[in-house]
Amino acid sequence: MDSSRFLASLAQALSTMTLYKSGHPARERVIDRSLALLGELLEADPHPQFSFLGDEVVHGKTSLRDLRDWEWSARFAGAGIQRLEFDPEVTRDDFVQFLDTVAARLGGAAAAIDTSEMRHAGKRPTIRFGSIGIRSDDDATRRAIEKDIVTATISFQFGEEVDAIKYMHEQVMQNGGLPLLEAEAVVRSLSVAMHGESEMMLPLLMLKEFDQYTTTHCLNVSVLTMALAEHLELNARDVRTFGVAGLLHDLGKVRIPTEILNKPGKLTDDERTVMQNHTVEGARLIITSDRELDMAAAVAYEHHIMLNGGGYPKRHYQRDVHKASTLVHVCDVYDALRTNRPYRAAWESERVLKYIEEKAGSEFEPEIAAKFVEMMRALEGKTATVEFPAKAAVSA
Ligand SMILES: [Fe+2]
Ligand SMILES: [Fe+2]
Repeated sequence: MDSSRFLASLAQALSTMTLYKSGHPARERVIDRSLALLGELLEADPHPQFSFLGDEVVHGKTSLRDLRDWEWSARFAGAGIQRLEFDPEVTRDDFVQFLDTVAARLGGAAAAIDTSEMRHAGKRPTIRFGSIGIRSDDDATRRAIEKDIVTATISFQFGEEVDAIKYMHEQVMQNGGLPLLEAEAVVRSLSVAMHGESEMMLPLLMLKEFDQYTTTHCLNVSVLTMALAEHLELNARDVRTFGVAGLLHDLGKVRIPTEILNKPGKLTDDERTVMQNHTVEGARLIITSDRELDMAAAVAYEHHIMLNGGGYPKRHYQRDVHKASTLVHVCDVYDALRTNRPYRAAWESERVLKYIEEKAGSEFEPEIAAKFVEMMRALEGKTATVEFPAKAAVSA
């Protein structure tokens, strides 16, 4: 099986299609060749799935080394195609239609001819693509997360949770594998902490040392995201799935050198590029660890993208981000501004909420921003500040 050869033929077909009209022999030839290679691929892997993460291409769980820095990967991702999957029964018509749609997107043509779902009217298309988060059959994730929450009286101490997060980050750093069970356990435990009292509480960790930032921040973003998801009346399963996405949103930071991560001063352009790459890196780490976590991967990728298209990673094709990304984005900014950083003191809660209101409609999804501000004002007095555990020993 050679998935790289197929992808190269796909790129060639797309380039050729911009030069020749339908029916031209050169065009038909490259389409046939690519379709033949797809046939070979489907024999070895009946449901191939590809992810395009900027400079990296992943087939299933395997990163395709020979396609590192392949220009087409960034091109696909920029056109809103971060994920591409095929069913074994792809026809030539399906394939041509797919190529036409992608060619239109790449050419920047109005993508009104978009999604394959529309044209297949109810029938599941044999070729599916879109952002990483588009997925309907994530039953395994549901089953894994849909365990009953054990209610317990909690004292607001997050020793075990902090340990579990540290352990998770260390595992990712050492072997690239993400211990999903730990992530889910932390989220369940945070959920218990939030509902331990008769009314909802918002337990947020307080940062003591700068090097605790990533741990503190991802725990808080997970709590805030779950609270917001609940406030938006999502069901319990989705609330926890969003909580996992909040917990993992900055996972890519484990790969950023600490000198850059904790640098007190302004970052240089090169350092900023490295820093911003935590989005792509995080999505890659998550997707290669667990195929079922693609919503978390979408959030890792998209949580710095603003409503008006600003932020990063840059996209050439305007499309909406996953709903979970809009929630995590506002919670992320809230927690970041509420925290003392080497270069700036923490802001008061009200100042942050005003800021979020100001940026609603440009940076933030207005409805989500309004709901977040409403929730935080309603929870005033119900926010428990939790001390960072003094001696959080890492336990396996
Ligand atoms: Fe981030
Ligand atoms: Fe963040």
